[in-house]
Amino acid sequence: MDDRILAADISKDEVELDRSLRPKKLDEFVGQEQIKENLSIFIRAARARGEVLDHLLLCGPPGLGKTTLAYIVSTELGVSLKTTSGPALERAGDLAAILTNLDPHDVLFIDEIHRLNRAVEEILYPGLEDFELDIVIGKGPSARSLRLEIPPFTLVGATTRTGLITSPLRDRFGINCRLDYYEAEELAQIIDRSAKLIKVQIEADGALEIAKRSRGTPRIANRLLKRVRDYSEIESDGKITAALAAEALNLFEVDEVGLDKLDQRILTTLIRKFNGAPVGLNTLAVALGEEPGTIEDVYEPFLVQLGFLQRTPRGRIATERAYNHLGITLSETKTPQKPLF
Ligand SMILES: Nc1ncnc2c1ncn2[C@@H]1O[C@H](COP(=O)(O)OP(=O)(O)OP(=O)(O)O)[C@@H](O)[C@H]1O
Ligand SMILES: [Mg+2]
Repeated sequence: MDDRILAADISKDEVELDRSLRPKKLDEFVGQEQIKENLSIFIRAARARGEVLDHLLLCGPPGLGKTTLAYIVSTELGVSLKTTSGPALERAGDLAAILTNLDPHDVLFIDEIHRLNRAVEEILYPGLEDFELDIVIGKGPSARSLRLEIPPFTLVGATTRTGLITSPLRDRFGINCRLDYYEAEELAQIIDRSAKLIKVQIEADGALEIAKRSRGTPRIANRLLKRVRDYSEIESDGKITAALAAEALNLFEVDEVGLDKLDQRILTTLIRKFNGAPVGLNTLAVALGEEPGTIEDVYEPFLVQLGFLQRTPRGRIATERAYNHLGITLSETKTPQKPLF
């Protein structure tokens, strides 16, 4: 299997697909109802007052729509969006150049904002609060500080790791939105919309079948749709039914709830190798031959969301639900530890 099929982040050749399927307006954006409602109110209020929208922080796992929302916010505000990322802003001067070139009320989108370096972050604070920058020119005794006015703007920051954002930075965002995994029905709507855009025929049950296996993530839903379309064009008449979607996804080794081989190995390792006892992240990573970071950021959140894995202070454990899903009975494991669940 192509091991990227269920990775929630984006590969290079997927950038175009991502862009082409991105909804442009708030009402085309499926799900996340509370966030949409709040944003719609804040945007209309800012427009009515002719004021700049408060700075907005978007958090959540990869592929759930943070970049999409940033673009939508700028479109709904009727302003342009400039985009950069935490790692791209190496020096304070990089940020100053961008900020001084904004038009009033523009949106500046900083992706991976948790990776902003400290010096750049500190320059940003007065920019966010008073639309002013303090720039130091020169070095040593001849250095002097210069205060620059910048146009009022809205910062939209996106991060997959809220925990890594410093609290002074977090406190400067007036609006804080946390995106959550999507329900299967919502993903089915997204798949239906994408199918129309890429001109593929799909039955409602077919969309739902793909949706259920998409790890609650729109990017994965779109990717699986594309793979199933390829399969259906070769193996069938190009129309996606539930049976055909299931057949294709089984072939790609994506199971009925969206687990791939590594998810299953994580759970079976916890259950069989460690007999159901709590296991530390690093030990688990060594047992699987994977990076702890990949397990923690990419795999665990979804397993926790499904209720298959628990992070306890003593370590990770597979839940009863995981045993049931994998068809493993407790008595099969050699010496189940207590308490298990
Ligand atoms: N609510 C939604 N409705 C419809 N399509 C969506 C929605 N959310 C995301 N998508 C689709 O999923 C794709 C990925 O979304 P996006 O790039 O905004 O995710 P992201 O949260 O920025 O991910 P990353 O953390 O990797 O940057 C988009 O191309 C878009 O087509
Ligand atoms: Mg993004």
